[in-house]
Amino acid sequence: MKPRFALLFIMIMIWMGCTEKPTKTPQTTLDVTQAHYDSLYAAIAPLKNGKKMMPRTTRNGKLVTVGIYDWTSGFFPASLWNLYGLTKKKKWKDRAVEYTEKLDSIQYWEGNHDVGFIMECTYGNALKYTDSPVYDSVIVQTARSLSTRFRPQAGVLQSWDWSKKWDCPVIIDNMMNLELLFHATRISGDSTYYNIAVSHADTTLKNHYREDNSSYHVLDYDTETGKVLQKNTHQGLSDNSAWARGQAWGLYGFTMCYRETGDSRYLEHAQKIADFIQNHPNLPKDKIPYWDYDAPASENTPRDASAAAIAASALYELSTFTENEKAQIHRNFADQIVTSLSSPAYFAALGDNADFLLMHSVGSKPHDVEVDVPLNYADYYFLEALLRKKETDGSEKDKH
Ligand code: GLY
Repeated sequence: MKPRFALLFIMIMIWMGCTEKPTKTPQTTLDVTQAHYDSLYAAIAPLKNGKKMMPRTTRNGKLVTVGIYDWTSGFFPASLWNLYGLTKKKKWKDRAVEYTEKLDSIQYWEGNHDVGFIMECTYGNALKYTDSPVYDSVIVQTARSLSTRFRPQAGVLQSWDWSKKWDCPVIIDNMMNLELLFHATRISGDSTYYNIAVSHADTTLKNHYREDNSSYHVLDYDTETGKVLQKNTHQGLSDNSAWARGQAWGLYGFTMCYRETGDSRYLEHAQKIADFIQNHPNLPKDKIPYWDYDAPASENTPRDASAAAIAASALYELSTFTENEKAQIHRNFADQIVTSLSSPAYFAALGDNADFLLMHSVGSKPHDVEVDVPLNYADYYFLEALLRKKETDGSEKDKH
């Protein structure tokens, strides 16, 4: 080779060397998510035939697991279903089935309204991906059990039995349990469940909301007259404050009720809750709220990633029901939440956080329980938000 060409050759090689793409593909959020859940699945494997086999949170950095009668028992298997939805990998489906079926006996439990959460997130999600008459019957039986908590004079499903403070407490979270009732009517053709859900949603719409479209946490009803006896909080800052997760439950619940009924009152109400959340003066720039919208804002005020994740998932759905400009606002807001939650400020590094995905949620600040920790439902709604983001971006054809 002539020296002139040799020099040119060397320069080209140096240039190619500089611009060569890294051979290692950077890990996506979904890759890291799967690695986290591989580890979490492995960590609980020794407990799988015991009483407390479902991961819920951490205490002093150590994994805390719960049994099937804990209200959060469905969220780990439900996250496995979301991972299956996101990846279509058989491994996640097999694991989801394994842990979903541990909840079988909950279908007969009449002692808690949260059977709706537990069974719809698991068996209900499963039915998006599999036809199963057995799972259908589980949903209908759970609806039968949940319906025993309906108090017809008040028109609501009673939330808790365990407190002496209230006669018939109804928490805003209870809106989430209605999804299972709608599902049961679709499966069985029995409108009883649908009618109970509509009655509960209507009564909640009438009594649970304030002028500014924020919601109380707990309302106490007289089951004979239907009169509202008290308006309180359990997990919020005060009776009159806006507990962050409660606002997210309401947003998600009324959006879902619109999907199931087509009743425009629910859609209008969901829009109002979305406006409250999106325009709140105390909302930090990264869109992850403090644990209560009325909590004094400071660097040390705990955030609630779970409230943000629930709201993001709800807003992706709400965006599909709204006009162009509003839809874009909801989608952008949800995107901002997902971006924040996917950042190292909230998304744990592999091996940290007991391999839950998200850090910085709050269970109950007034009880000083689960403050600034991972929570299995924060992970679940974050994964659902990722799934809904993918399904509603206009280009996703792989709908299930
Ligand atoms: N449903 C209970 C909670 O949101 O903490």
